Amino acid sequence: MKWRICCCLVLATVLSASSVYADGGTLFKEKCGSCHKKGGDAPPVNPADKAAVVWKKYFDRGRHDDLSGTLSSAELESVVGYLQAYAADSDKPETAAIPK
Ligand code: HEC
Repeated sequence: MKWRICCCLVLATVLSASSVYADGGTLFKEKCGSCHKKGGDAPPVNPADKAAVVWKKYFDRGRHDDLSGTLSSAELESVVGYLQAYAADSDKPETAAIPK
């Protein structure tokens, strides 16, 4: 019986650790994608458009118009984590996150 509890704990830990980027990816598609899509207010953007450090600076320096009405700062942080994980200089650059 004990091993079952153990297994659950391990699984829960793995899932919660990996969900940071999963959430960021979902938020990116939903929130950023609400404007950045074909026929939207802005052209599609993808993680592979910029290197990881550039993504961080872009939002740290507030280059984007205010997004506080769309995402909380925690959500934006999560999205930036996702963008960095799939950035141009990552192991797995993602180019078509938002369907064109
Ligand atoms: C309310 C609509 C809206 C939302 C939501 C939004 N954006 Fe934007 N974004 C814009 C507009 C408008 C521009 C300016 C487009 C232009 O310059 O032609 C822009 C510009 C950008 C640019 C610069 C594009 C370039 O090539 O210079 C990036 C990068 C970007 N947004 C990323 C994001 C990310 C990431 C998110 C989600 C965290 C996001 N945006 C959410 C409307 C939005």
